[in-house]
Amino acid sequence: MSRPVRAAVFASGSGSNFQALLDAERGSSAPYEIVLLVSDRASAGAIERAGSHQVDSRVVSFRLREMDEVDAELVEALEEAEVEVIFLAGFLRLVPPGVVQRWRGRILNIHPALLPAFGGKGMWGMHVHRAVLDAGARLTGPTVHLVDEIYDRGAILAQWPVPVLQGDTPETLAARVLEVEHRLYPRVAAHLCRAIQRNEKVRPLDAGAEAFIPTDPPLT
Ligand code: GAR
Repeated sequence: MSRPVRAAVFASGSGSNFQALLDAERGSSAPYEIVLLVSDRASAGAIERAGSHQVDSRVVSFRLREMDEVDAELVEALEEAEVEVIFLAGFLRLVPPGVVQRWRGRILNIHPALLPAFGGKGMWGMHVHRAVLDAGARLTGPTVHLVDEIYDRGAILAQWPVPVLQGDTPETLAARVLEVEHRLYPRVAAHLCRAIQRNEKVRPLDAGAEAFIPTDPPLT
């Protein structure tokens, strides 16, 4: 199969990673095609981005609802759009178990720290960067991993170390990591989709892999 893999992106916020995935898709012959944006928030900036790129979007509320009901709504929307792969891009909800089961091995998440450190429930966005600084870590950086039933636990496919600099605030650190996220995520997304196209099990990216990205800036 060499046609592009049909992808959905799940985003709760501004969706700059969604934008990076779109830009990579439109700028080159990406092995994926984003056909649906799902958000749990009607006010998410990602929805506007979807509109300006002619990508269908759907708001699925999680608030005060039974997980089973949300799960069924999501599975139906994803099946209707014939989605084959899902990229979480700043999605702050736990993916319901029916979705995980149906798309197992085909759901990616990007997390803004070097998992397994600084992950788990409540560890998202600025909370992560604050925890990294509070712990005195000298190295951080995004992790891209497969999604399972537990927050931030699935198999790691790629990480990109980013130094913590003296005087960093959560905001400066977040900006440095986010810039790297935008470069890393489309490459790992493409890597997973190429494995799907070849009907192969996806392997972590490493120094021998075509899409390996060296540390930047170099560590000293
Ligand atoms: C990104 O930094 C992403 O890694 C993080 O939320 C931000 C979303 O930014 N995700 C998590 O913390 C998940 N645990 P974006 O909306 O601009 O892509």
